[in-house]
Amino acid sequence: MTETTVETGGATGSRVLVVGGHGAVGSAVVAALDGWLPGRVLAGGRGRGVRVDVTDPEAFGRTLGELGEGPAPLGAVVMCVEPPDSGAARACLERGVGVVDVGATPALLDGVAGLDGVARRAGATAVLSVGVAPGLTNLLARRAHEAVGGAERIDLTVLLGAGERHGADAVRWTVEGLAEPVTAAPGRYALPGYGRRAAHPFPFADQYVLRRTLGVPEVTTRLALDSRALTAALFTLRRTGAARPPAVRRLLTALFRRVHTGGDGFALRAEAVRGEQRVALALAGRVQSRVTGLVAAHAARALLDGALPSGVHHLEGLPALADLPERLGLTVVREARGPEVREVR
Ligand SMILES: NC(=O)c1ccc[n+]([C@@H]2O[C@H](COP(=O)([O-])OP(=O)(O)OC[C@H]3O[C@@H](n4cnc5c(N)ncnc54)[C@H](OP(=O)(O)O)[C@@H]3O)[C@@H](O)[C@H]2O)c1
Repeated sequence: MTETTVETGGATGSRVLVVGGHGAVGSAVVAALDGWLPGRVLAGGRGRGVRVDVTDPEAFGRTLGELGEGPAPLGAVVMCVEPPDSGAARACLERGVGVVDVGATPALLDGVAGLDGVARRAGATAVLSVGVAPGLTNLLARRAHEAVGGAERIDLTVLLGAGERHGADAVRWTVEGLAEPVTAAPGRYALPGYGRRAAHPFPFADQYVLRRTLGVPEVTTRLALDSRALTAALFTLRRTGAARPPAVRRLLTALFRRVHTGGDGFALRAEAVRGEQRVALALAGRVQSRVTGLVAAHAARALLDGALPSGVHHLEGLPALADLPERLGLTVVREARGPEVREVR
């Protein structure tokens, strides 16, 4: 038997641009990638580092072209800010540059998913649903779905620490979600370290994506904050319609950026239901923006290593990244019928 050399097909030696690289998520991406790829990581934004603006895809494309002519080719862009549409992702993929996107808005992810053909033709890869929610929630959902042999319904719960210094863009995104139509009833779910918590439907992208990628007809994501009082106040504002005027949301965004009551922990839970069967998997961690950045950094590294197929993929569709919770030191627990929980792999 002869030994064969396997080409990774990856962009070994190429550079990576982190857009929003000075923000809460982006700085965690830059720190992790810098450790693995010293000298090959560029941080960008409108104000610092590589000057880029994702709201101007043409100028963004020109910058990509210039970077591609630098000392080493540009292999990937990690998007750590939400662009208004898929224009910036298209500019990357058309040039054969990979994309890792931490975006959480359903319409935006759908727009990038629509570039699958563009990516394949260019031999490029995009990874979507990267982060905590969407991201780790997608991975938990897939495990729970498989554990019941194909779920009929999945309930996802995301608990965020109100004490964490969330980035401006993430706070804006969350407050904007309060104006979205309510699609399901609230529920009460047990979360590791927090007990049973009331959680309210919230427009995280994971629920819409998983209906398609896992073929589960009913998926709902609910949000709670670690402060019970703040959770109740926030969702009362939504229920009464008080959060609908843009001026109120601007005020809430400013308030959340200044007031930090609570901890910096987060917890996630995915419950899959099929007939009488029910499997709930959960995990807890600290500083969701840092963990989002780490998930994105791992995805970017796998992309640059050529470990991911070309085309546009959501995190739960990539076996190379299926063990991310364990790689990040997060313990996945399986909820028993009683109060007991046990670790699962
Ligand atoms: N999937 C998940 O679980 C998850 C979790 C947390 C956050 N997120 C998403 O991650 C994104 C970043 O959140 P964050 O907390 O890091 O926010 P952040 O701290 O406000 O960081 C955003 C960064 O983007 C840059 N930026 C803003 N507008 C830009 C533009 N038009 N073009 C280029 N750069 C721009 C900003 O720098 P300049 O002002 O210098 O441009 C800033 O450094 C948000 O979209 C949020 O929804 C996802």
